[in-house]
Amino acid sequence: MPEVSYVYSDGTKKTIEVDEGTTLRDAAVDNGIDGIEGDCGGLAMCATCHVYVADAYKDKLPEPGRDEAEMLEATAAERKDSSRLSCQIEITEELDGIEVYIPETQY
Ligand code: FES
Repeated sequence: MPEVSYVYSDGTKKTIEVDEGTTLRDAAVDNGIDGIEGDCGGLAMCATCHVYVADAYKDKLPEPGRDEAEMLEATAAERKDSSRLSCQIEITEELDGIEVYIPETQY
């Protein structure tokens, strides 16, 4: 199973194994990863699942769809080039080892 690491601003890292096809948001919520709220349930309607994707993996992801791109305008924390909605990223073997950084706030 692919491994995913969630990294907090203080450097703390939590690494979990994730079934392929699971989104980064669902994996975080299901495994008690604090800091990814995902209030809308993964529908790209809330932006509380915002993460920053590590540079090494940014280019492996598909471009954000229209809904994601619109919601990325509404993140509580600063939007960066690496900003994505974790509910829109499905884990694949190609993403094994991906690291995402959790913003300091989602509200
Ligand atoms: S869970 Fe609401 S936008 Fe991702």
